[in-house]
Amino acid sequence: MKLKHCLAAAAIGLSFSAAAAEENLRITIDATNPGPTIDRDIYGQFAEHLGRGIYEGIWVGKDSDIENINGFRTDVVEALRKINVPLVRWPGGCFADEYRWRDGVGPRDQRPVRVNTHWGGVEEDNAFGTHEFFELVELLGARAYVNGNLGTGNPREMAEWLEYITGTSNSAVVEERRKNGRDKPWSVAYFGVGNEAWGCGGHMRPEYYADLYNHFATFLKTPRGSEPKFVASGGHTTDTSWTDTLSKNIQRQMDGISFHFYTLPTGEWDDKGAAIGFGEDQWFSTLWQTMRMDEFIRLNKKVLDKNDPEKKIGFYVDEWGTWYNPEEGREPGFLYQQNTLRDAVVAAVNFNIFHQHADRVHMTNIAQMVNVLQAMILTDKEKMVLTPTYHVYDLYQVFQDASALPLEISNPVSYRKGGKSLPGVSASAAKGKDGKLYLSLVNLDPSKAQTVSVDVNGLEVTEATGRLLTSSRMDAHNTFSSPKNVGPANYHAAESAGELQLQLPAKSVMVVALGQ
Ligand code: AHR
Repeated sequence: MKLKHCLAAAAIGLSFSAAAAEENLRITIDATNPGPTIDRDIYGQFAEHLGRGIYEGIWVGKDSDIENINGFRTDVVEALRKINVPLVRWPGGCFADEYRWRDGVGPRDQRPVRVNTHWGGVEEDNAFGTHEFFELVELLGARAYVNGNLGTGNPREMAEWLEYITGTSNSAVVEERRKNGRDKPWSVAYFGVGNEAWGCGGHMRPEYYADLYNHFATFLKTPRGSEPKFVASGGHTTDTSWTDTLSKNIQRQMDGISFHFYTLPTGEWDDKGAAIGFGEDQWFSTLWQTMRMDEFIRLNKKVLDKNDPEKKIGFYVDEWGTWYNPEEGREPGFLYQQNTLRDAVVAAVNFNIFHQHADRVHMTNIAQMVNVLQAMILTDKEKMVLTPTYHVYDLYQVFQDASALPLEISNPVSYRKGGKSLPGVSASAAKGKDGKLYLSLVNLDPSKAQTVSVDVNGLEVTEATGRLLTSSRMDAHNTFSSPKNVGPANYHAAESAGELQLQLPAKSVMVVALGQ
């Protein structure tokens, strides 16, 4: 049996035959037929004013005892630079729809204090604002995604923020930026017009939001050539009404429609499941939940293909990741959670899904970068630790701006539990910007290793070299005292008897370059 694209294996897993089990899973990559570019912005990050995501996690201020570059933690900046973060979304999230951008510019000691009503009810002193955000993205070598306030702001405020960021004239707004220490305009790659309009952004109907989008976007102007991609706030899960209504009714510039989906082990917001100490039932249910991303993208793409056959509108998953119960003893509104090998597998499976839909999915942001939800990095005052999710972003860097390659899986394996079935192995292949052929493999099964045979049409391939992330425990994680529990190991395999076989351990993520 052959499968086009591994993720279609979910359904086929059910017809998996005992005879096929005797043969290895075999992956055949077609190197002669490159598909769409995997936009590097698929590897974007999200940093909201939430818990210790920005304050302490990124920004400590110049006078801090924690080593910093002009107020930004040196350890965090250096770690993020290593994974080539392409894009950072800021300031929210729900926070964005209450944010007054002028609070966050000008002398820090004169910035007003507000209450962050969404996240913990804590005081927000606005020490991190527009100038700090753009300095951060410059330090990271990333690009900026600014999310405007549609929920409680007005079109003038939003328009003036964009003018403040990008303007080159002598207008009062641009002069204000100059007075605040920045002469040159910044470049903004994406600009979001509101967030979760169906929820914290105002509990709107899509029709009402579409009208508001047209209204606000009319006034969003930049100098010629500095236009960001404008993002409309879209839907969630299987509800495609947002994608449908927005793609039919938005008349102003709209480059993409956003979509949010969080992976909850139980699928229930009241009791989501724990970040660590879970059993195989929640390992499975988490992966089963996260695999729904594929269905959601397919459903929305179907609507877009009908309303926008020329593919002008992108589908941006600008919030995704795991969301667990708050840790005992921590402020629940801070959304701090541990991050395990399970999170690494979740991230890799989602990347493989995004690659497969690279024709529409041009940008995504994991929630969130530091100390919040499925983070790359956790900090505790001066201490810092890299999570298993960070290591997956590191492994997958080679896919940034690569050309997706079609692949087929023969003899697929399935991973079953409680009457449900998942593909046992998820895979993705691409031709990297460096011209090399890359393959990623994820073994979803926590107890069964796989031997994977690899063929490439159109290229002689005799060896695989790369890195592998695994552990003996499903909830293996890194702590401040044991920061290297989960980390990548080098991997190499060479052809033997005319066959290239990769040994994929149970619960693992592998990325290899295939060559001679
Ligand atoms: O990422 C946390 C929150 O989740 C965001 O603020 C919001 O957009 C979503 O509901």
